[in-house]
Amino acid sequence: MAQTTFEEISASDFFYRNRDIAGFSNPSRAIFVAIREIVENALDAAESHKIPPDIYVRLSFEGEATKDTQIYKLRIEDNGSGIQPRFIPSAFGQVLYGSKYKLKQTRGTFGLGGKMALLYGQITTHQAAQVTSSTGNQNKIYSFKLMIDIQHNRPIILDRKVLINKDNWRGTIIEFTLEGDYLRAMPKILDYFKQTAMVNPYANLTFVDPKGRLYKWTRVTTEMPDPPRETLPHPYGVDVEMLQRLIHITTDTTMTDFLKHHFHRVGGITAQKFLEFSGLNPTKNPKKLSHEEIVKLTQNLKKFKDFLPPDASCLSPLGEELLRAGIQKELQPEYLVVHQRKPSTYAGHPFIVEVGIAYGGGVPKTGGFVLYRFANRIPLLYDEASDVSYRVINSMNWRRYKVSPDMPIAIVVHICSTKVPYKTVGKEFIADRAEVRREVANELREVSRQLGHFLTRREHVDKEKKRLTIFAKYLPRIAQFSATLAGKEKIPDIEKLLKSVQKYGAEDE
Ligand SMILES: Nc1ncnc2c1ncn2[C@@H]1O[C@H](COP(=O)(O)OP(=O)(O)OP(=O)(O)O)[C@@H](O)[C@H]1O
Ligand SMILES: [Mg+2]
Repeated sequence: MAQTTFEEISASDFFYRNRDIAGFSNPSRAIFVAIREIVENALDAAESHKIPPDIYVRLSFEGEATKDTQIYKLRIEDNGSGIQPRFIPSAFGQVLYGSKYKLKQTRGTFGLGGKMALLYGQITTHQAAQVTSSTGNQNKIYSFKLMIDIQHNRPIILDRKVLINKDNWRGTIIEFTLEGDYLRAMPKILDYFKQTAMVNPYANLTFVDPKGRLYKWTRVTTEMPDPPRETLPHPYGVDVEMLQRLIHITTDTTMTDFLKHHFHRVGGITAQKFLEFSGLNPTKNPKKLSHEEIVKLTQNLKKFKDFLPPDASCLSPLGEELLRAGIQKELQPEYLVVHQRKPSTYAGHPFIVEVGIAYGGGVPKTGGFVLYRFANRIPLLYDEASDVSYRVINSMNWRRYKVSPDMPIAIVVHICSTKVPYKTVGKEFIADRAEVRREVANELREVSRQLGHFLTRREHVDKEKKRLTIFAKYLPRIAQFSATLAGKEKIPDIEKLLKSVQKYGAEDE
């Protein structure tokens, strides 16, 4: 019998072999995902410093086209924070390396997206990427020519240049080549920009496509949500591994201090009550806990009912005003209602759901509802039918709200969380978790009720208009006729009569 052989592969080797799970499954989708990942990074880099983002994306032809694919050059420029030179090679050349493995809301979560785009470019075109960046406060711009050593998951620096930063520029420019199919991807890419503009109304986005067509989405406000603050883990979301890591790094020598300093919303009194509940001595040194005690402690952290729910300072929702501005700008609907719910939690992770429902005006007529899904301000464009919002919409009784699917209605659902329950690393759809589903459903009922009121009122106003048109048509004739019949010269004033039969004021229209 042949011997089984074993080998170890690196993280980049894994994603090289399984690029489909990160969304790079065909040339059309790959070009879309590459743009999306790098724009997301640019938006994160600007927002984390409360800078209104200015993002420029250029996709151009590079080399000969084959039957289905073409080589493109992709260049993305931003005015974000920039990256310090010592982090640039790994940030762009080492899979699962990043600055966003923190407990606060960011678009990035996996430390993967940007690298996947470059890795895909490298394996399809065999060329290096150029990353240029400055943090603005040093007088220099750093530019790296990079490739990824896929087998060892390490960056290969082919060239490094230092330039003088005369204009005090701050930001990042990424340029690389990749194989793709822009023609097929075009509708999704344009949709992506439009929807990104909707939930980032403070961003300027420019896109130049390979045919040289210029698309621009201009900001309507410079108001930005406050950047989220980093938080501590909430006791309900802690497992044995995490507890062991916290015990390893802590400098606290008593259980009370340990709980107070390493967990979200645990103060002295709660810590004391919890320790009593789990039968642990408050002065016990956490480093002296046995493995069994740690397992027991984790179970008790989940069982104890008196922990306060997480607060939302680690989240940065758009807020009703910005969401309204964004939808108004991109759809110009006849009627729009937006609503934000208070923070909620699943498995110890805080999340907030914001919803908008738009009717008429520029809302596309598709013969069904148009659903715009967002997570941490990222538009989700694929796998709609698997998403929690889609399922909620399809299970609602819309007749109750006077709504039918043939009406021009757009529904916008934004979920923000420190940990969005994505089903794939490609960030395409949100898992159907009971807590999230409940919040989305409640939120949709709220805005639909208001839309229902609007539609009922409009129906009345329409009926009334019709009634008045009939009056306006026949009353003058009746007035004329009755005046002649009564032998009077003066015809009665119909305006007064018309007013007296009017049920609604002008403002109702
Ligand atoms: N335009 C940029 N400006 C500043 N920093 C950036 C920029 N692009 C990437 N980075 C840095 O590089 C890191 C890696 O980016 P990458 O997209 O690979 O992962 P991520 O954004 O952390 O997570 P995700 O895989 O979810 O996108 C980021 O965490 C960030 O620190
Ligand atoms: Mg990213």
